[in-house]
Amino acid sequence: MRPLGPASEAPAGPRSPHLMVAFVTVTVLAVGSALSPPHMLLFGMVAIGTAFAGASARPRGVLAVGCYAFVAAFAVSTWQGMLGTPDQILRLLLVAGIIPISWAIALHLRLLLRATAEAAGERGMLAAIVEQSTDAIIALGLDGTVLKWNAGAEGLYGYRAAEMIGESFTRVLPAERLPVYERWLAELNAGKHVILDEAPRIRSDGTAFLVSVAAAPIRDESGRVIAAATTERDITAKKRREAEERQALERSARAARMESLGQLAGGVAHDFNNLLAIILNYADFLTDEVTADGRRDLDRIRDAADRARSLTGQLLLFARQEPTQVENVDLNEVVSSSSELLSRSIGTNIELVCRTHDQPLPVRANRGRLDQILLNLVINARDAMPDGGMVVVGTGPTPDGGTRLTVADTGCGMTAEVRDRLFEPFFTTKPADRGTGLGLATVYGIVEDAGGHIGVESSPGAGTTFTVELPRADGPAPGAAGTSAAGPSQGHGEHVVVLEDEDFVRDAVLRILRENGFRTTALNEHDPAATVLDDADLLIADIALRHRSGPEVAAGLRRHHPGLRVLFMSGYSERDLRDRYQLDDSVRIVPKPFTAAELLAAVGDTLAPTAADSGRGRPG
Ligand SMILES: Nc1ncnc2c1ncn2[C@@H]1O[C@H](COP(=O)(O)OP(=O)(O)OP(=O)(O)O)[C@@H](O)[C@H]1O
Ligand SMILES: [Mg+2]
Repeated sequence: MRPLGPASEAPAGPRSPHLMVAFVTVTVLAVGSALSPPHMLLFGMVAIGTAFAGASARPRGVLAVGCYAFVAAFAVSTWQGMLGTPDQILRLLLVAGIIPISWAIALHLRLLLRATAEAAGERGMLAAIVEQSTDAIIALGLDGTVLKWNAGAEGLYGYRAAEMIGESFTRVLPAERLPVYERWLAELNAGKHVILDEAPRIRSDGTAFLVSVAAAPIRDESGRVIAAATTERDITAKKRREAEERQALERSARAARMESLGQLAGGVAHDFNNLLAIILNYADFLTDEVTADGRRDLDRIRDAADRARSLTGQLLLFARQEPTQVENVDLNEVVSSSSELLSRSIGTNIELVCRTHDQPLPVRANRGRLDQILLNLVINARDAMPDGGMVVVGTGPTPDGGTRLTVADTGCGMTAEVRDRLFEPFFTTKPADRGTGLGLATVYGIVEDAGGHIGVESSPGAGTTFTVELPRADGPAPGAAGTSAAGPSQGHGEHVVVLEDEDFVRDAVLRILRENGFRTTALNEHDPAATVLDDADLLIADIALRHRSGPEVAAGLRRHHPGLRVLFMSGYSERDLRDRYQLDDSVRIVPKPFTAAELLAAVGDTLAPTAADSGRGRPG
C-alpha cells in the first residue's frame, strides 16, 4: 500500500529528468548553432529546450531553463556578430515567448499531478480504514453480489474475502429473512439509505448472531446507483447485556415491590390477628352462656375466624414473618414422598412425571412448607391444563452449588402482564370462588425466607416452568426454638400482671386467666410505680404497645424485680420481633390470635421451673 501523507510538492524528484534533458538540449543546440555557419541562424532552436522543461511540471525549473536558453541564444548570436540585428531580436523574442508558455504548462501539469496524488492518497486512506475496521464493510452489486468484503467481514462471518466475492449476500442470511433483504436491496437500488437496528445473520459455522446495519447506495460520476456499501456491527453481546440489565432491573423492582407489599401484608395481618384474638376468645367465653342454637352460631363465628386465621397465616408467610422450624431435608425425598398425593390432586387427564436427581440434595427448610410449595405449583399447573397435559417435577443441582426444584407444565402459559404480577398477594386470574391469589405469594415468601429464589419462564400457549433455587444445607439443622413443652396449665392462685393496650384483648386475657385459677392485675403502660409487681409471678406484655415496646417496659420493671418472669404476646412475626428487640430464645412469645388453651399452655411453659431456677429458687 502507498504510504499515507500529503501529496508531494513536485511529482518528479529535485533532479527532474525533464529538466536535465532540457538543459542538455539547450546546451547541445547552443553549441551546435555556435559551430554552424552564422547565416544558418540556428541559435533560436534552443527554445526547444524550454519547451521540454515544461514536461517537468516544475515552473521554477522551466524559468531557469528559459533564462539559460535566452542567455545562450543571445551569447551565441552576439558571438556570431549579430548583435542588434532583426534576426537576433526576432529569435530572442521567440526564445523569450516560449518561456511563459512552458511555465504555464508546467504549472498546469503540477496542479494536475498534485490533485491526482491527493485523490490517490485519499483512496489509500479509505482503503486502510475499510481494511482496519472491526465492523464488516461490504460492497454489494445491484443484484446483491458481494463486490468487496473487508477483514472485519471475514472476522464477523468466518468467510474469507475470496470465498465471498462474486457470491450472493443471501449466503449469510437466514431463509426467513430473504423478503426483508429483497426489500432493502430494492430501496438501495432506488438510491435510498437503509438503517436496521437489529438483523439476524448466520456465520460460516452455522451459528446465528445479530448485527446492526447501515447501508448506502454508491453512485458513479453521473449520479447513477452502481452498487451499495453496507456496514454491519455485531450486537449480539450488547443485546445480551441489555437483556441482562433489564432483567436485573426488573428483578430488583419486583423485589422492592414485593418488599413493600410484604410490609403492608404483615401490618394488615398483625391488626387482623389482634381482632381475631378478640373474636375467637369472646366466642369461647360465650359458649357456656348460650343456648344450643346460639352455640351453633358461635361455631360458625369460630369457623370463619379460623379461616381468617389461616389467611393471615398465609399473608405472614408471604411477608416472611411467620416463624418456622427448619430441618435438613432432601429435596428428592420431598418430591418422591409427595408424588402420590400430587397425582391424586391433579386428576386423571394430567400425567405427572417426577425426575429426581440421583444424588441427595439437602436443603435447610421446613418440611411442611416445601410440601406446600410443591402442592401450590402443581395445583397451578393443573389449573392451567383444563384439557389435560403433563407436569414434570424435577430436582437437580445448580451450577453455583445450590439446589433446584422445577415444576414444568404444558398448559396455557401466561402473558407478560400476568408473569409480572404473579407473586403479588391476591393476584389471580381465576374466578373468585376458585383462587385467592395467595398461592404463589406464599411460595415466594417461603422461598425467599429460606434464602432462595423463584423464577418463571412462560409465554401464552407455550407452557410454564417454575424454578425454585434453594441453598444447599451444609451442616446440621439448628435446633428448634421456643416450642411449647407443657399443655394448657391451670392456675393455683399465681399472680399474673397483664400489660396490653388493646382493651378487648387485655380483657380477654384477664378473663381467661381468672377463669383458670390465676389472680390477675391489668398494668398501665405508663404506670411507673408498678407496685403490683411486688408479688407478681408473671408479667404478660404485648410487644408493640402504642407508645413504648413491651420488652422496654419489661426491662425497666425487671430492674426492681429481677426475678420477674415475662411472657410476650404479638401479632407480628416471632423471628422479626426477636431480631428487632434482641430477644433470645429463652424469652417466650405467644403469637396472636391465640385460643384460651394456647395462652394457658404458654403461661404454663413460662411458669415451669427451669434449670436456672434450681440454682436460684423460683421467684414470687
Ligand atoms: N402454571 C401456570 N400456568 C399458567 N398460569 C399460572 C400458572 N401458575 C400461576 N399462574 C397464574 O398466576 C396466577 C396467580 O397464581 P396463584 O397461585 O398465586 O393464585 P391462584 O392459583 O389464582 O389462587 P390460589 O393459589 O390462591 O388458589 C393464577 O391466577 C394464574 O393466572
Ligand atoms: Mg394457585
